[in-house]
Amino acid sequence: MSDRIATLGSVEAEAALMVRDVVKRFGLTTALDHAGLELRRGERLALLGPNGAGKTTLVRCICGRAVPDAGKIEMLGRRLPPSGGRHELGFVPQEIALYPDLTARENLEAFGRFHGLTGSKLRQAVDWALEWTGLADRAGDLTKTYSSGMKRRVNIACGVLHRPLILLLDEPTVGVDPQSRDRIFTMLDELWGQGTSILLTTHQLEEAEQQCDRIVIIDHGHAIAEGTLAELIANTVGTKRKVIFTLAEAGPKLDGMTTDGDGRELVAEVEDVALELPDLLIRIRESGARVRDLEVHPPSLHSVFIHLTGRELRE
Ligand SMILES: Nc1ncnc2c1ncn2[C@@H]1O[C@H](COP(=O)(O)OP(=O)(O)O)[C@@H](O)[C@H]1O
Ligand SMILES: [Mg+2]
Repeated sequence: MSDRIATLGSVEAEAALMVRDVVKRFGLTTALDHAGLELRRGERLALLGPNGAGKTTLVRCICGRAVPDAGKIEMLGRRLPPSGGRHELGFVPQEIALYPDLTARENLEAFGRFHGLTGSKLRQAVDWALEWTGLADRAGDLTKTYSSGMKRRVNIACGVLHRPLILLLDEPTVGVDPQSRDRIFTMLDELWGQGTSILLTTHQLEEAEQQCDRIVIIDHGHAIAEGTLAELIANTVGTKRKVIFTLAEAGPKLDGMTTDGDGRELVAEVEDVALELPDLLIRIRESGARVRDLEVHPPSLHSVFIHLTGRELRE
């Protein structure tokens, strides 16, 4: 009994996915250059990086659609073979992959069969997916008549019909309207609430910041940082806030503050705004300068990204 519990315990402790040192070349292009990440059980992990960073290649390697040249990929503690053996995995590709001349229900039935579902299990899964996506009332319409957000929702459902433990989504909200985007995240929240581990590929800072528990930043085929937002901030830009005082006219230099904007801005870094701001304001006033405005900039994923890569995300 105790052995069994110990075994279960260790299995539970295994990561949903463990990717180590994966290399993938396309001719002279090195798409993945010793890339690695860990998707923990029950978490939502963002794989964040600019276009061309290698995100799609990495998820394609995980789901067996591309074969790495080197490296190791483990799922639930088992090393993955080059193909097959991925029943616990669901994959939603970046491109919409639906049959335009079939209805949503027919598309879902076709994908359900690919996943090995038949009979009443298939019917139940399709009914669930239509409710889950909020498309039950449009189930009989051809998907070519759908908005791009509706197509996205069906596309996602096609990868989830077999209710995988682990779900990989490659930029699932690109080109969708805000309403469908919200719906997609409500759908993903529901799966996450039921215990699904989610790897979400994105090039949008807000998505990584708001929708995920931890973030992996990938650049030039290599994961350059991994952690919660708080960990990433603490390890890179630090937890201090930047305070910018705009002066009525160019003012004096003050100890512990830098000047900017032709001398009309004073910039300070503070750990505790409430504690340190009053003293800064008093010192500026005593110097004879007048403060017209002030801004407080907390550290953000944006500043972490620039710190790590030296450039903006959308270049
Ligand atoms: N099938 C392929 N053939 C040749 N080059 C590819 C192929 N797939 C990806 N690449 C290249 O690999 C790099 C990473 O691409 P990709 O994984 O699609 O990045 P991302 O999804 O982050 O935008 C890019 O330079 C891209 O041009
Ligand atoms: Mg991509």
